[in-house]
Amino acid sequence: HPARNVRPERHPLAVVAHRGASEDAPEHTLAAYRKALEDGADGLECDVRLTADGHLVCVHDRRVNRTSNGRGAVSALELADLAALDFGSWKGKAADAEAPDIDPAAPDHERTSVLTLERLLELVADSGRQVELAIETKHPTRWAGQVEERLLGLLDRFGLAAPPAGKGPRVRVMSFSARSLQRVQAAAPAIPTVYLMQFISPRYRDGRLPAGVHIAGPSIRIVRNHPEFVARLQRAGNQVHVWTVNEAEDVELCARLGVDAVITNRPKAVLTQLGRR
Ligand code: G3P
Ligand code: CA
Repeated sequence: HPARNVRPERHPLAVVAHRGASEDAPEHTLAAYRKALEDGADGLECDVRLTADGHLVCVHDRRVNRTSNGRGAVSALELADLAALDFGSWKGKAADAEAPDIDPAAPDHERTSVLTLERLLELVADSGRQVELAIETKHPTRWAGQVEERLLGLLDRFGLAAPPAGKGPRVRVMSFSARSLQRVQAAAPAIPTVYLMQFISPRYRDGRLPAGVHIAGPSIRIVRNHPEFVARLQRAGNQVHVWTVNEAEDVELCARLGVDAVITNRPKAVLTQLGRR
């Protein structure tokens, strides 16, 4: 069963912007995703978490401490609390200087506001681009299905839960939790799921994935240390999407191994290396 609903073969290797173009702009901000679209990324990756009042926001860490001027767990804060925080300034002026092609006239709030998944879906819809959205559910077990339920509700509203073949943006749900993926499969079987791997668990070492999952998401470390595992995943009929691929030699390795997607903080550099810019 090869993965359904995947990119056409125009480009053998999809370049997916990890948390947006997160080398150039603060991760998970509107500015980072706009930049990724401008750079020509094939896909956008984002992490989602539930706020205390039930909104899905794009934040990687359990707490907001690293990426904002606030403190505390996302799950303990309401959207209005998060909206009052600055999610951009931590990245600093030096990063701006290294990214001269960020539009200096762009409204600041795009660089500093918390990003809701809804706003990201609007951005993608408005772009008119046939872009892939790779949405990762974070800490889904704690919420016993609420993250997936909210996520699928939103995707449904944007017409992404059962997308017409070949048209518009396509979405896939990623997780380190097989349970989270199974919830998505049960409720929305048309959405492809990606099983993320930080280690090769003995359970999946033969290249087969949890039931119903046909895309593996191994870390670049796994790929570097065990390139033969990629071949096993492929022989078992799975796609392979590797994260986080920022170094030129890793891009080259992934291309050589014939992986299907690389998830990178530097979409522009990777596209340039692949001769696509
Ligand atoms: O794309 C998968 C990758 O993002 C998983 O790791 O910690 O960056 O969410 P993390
Ligand atoms: Ca992620």
